[in-house]
Amino acid sequence: MPDPAHVRVHTPNGRPSEAQPKWRRDFPIDTQQDNYVARRDFTKFMVLISASFVAGQGWIALKTLRGDGAAHGPKAIAGVDEIAVGQAAIFFYPGEHDSCLLVRAGEREFLAYSNKCSHLSCPVTPDVPSGCLRCPCHHGSFDLATGKPLAGPPRRPLAKILLDVREGTIYATGVEERTV
Ligand code: FES
Repeated sequence: MPDPAHVRVHTPNGRPSEAQPKWRRDFPIDTQQDNYVARRDFTKFMVLISASFVAGQGWIALKTLRGDGAAHGPKAIAGVDEIAVGQAAIFFYPGEHDSCLLVRAGEREFLAYSNKCSHLSCPVTPDVPSGCLRCPCHHGSFDLATGKPLAGPPRRPLAKILLDVREGTIYATGVEERTV
């Protein structure tokens, strides 16, 4: 009995397989041809997966590079006289939906962070007397001076907003995404 893998089946219209319609070439009744199509499709699939993987890695690398103190252009966020020591204000930077917190921790000490918790993105609130920022969702907290996690589930610091104080105005000048 011949090996079924090597039995060549005649096409219904008698023409060579190259002259068959595409749908018949994609679903051949010839075992060898079917194996070839399966291998070809598998190779295409693997190439597609590899290309997606490379594109994903490139995107992550780009985002990491941009996030490392990335400058987004200065934006005036408050006047120095508008915030008393121990008070905080919300502003949006770099985008109009990127909510951040500006805290005046001392006479000349201004701190700003994204107020998106690094755990699951709940908004954090400042607790200046305790020197921390608190997340109400899962009782996480962050050091006010550094933005680093102190307690609860967060493992990464809050994104830090870089500031510049000039002529009585506080400017946001960049975002420093941090992993540790
Ligand atoms: S979202 Fe902030 S602790 Fe979970």
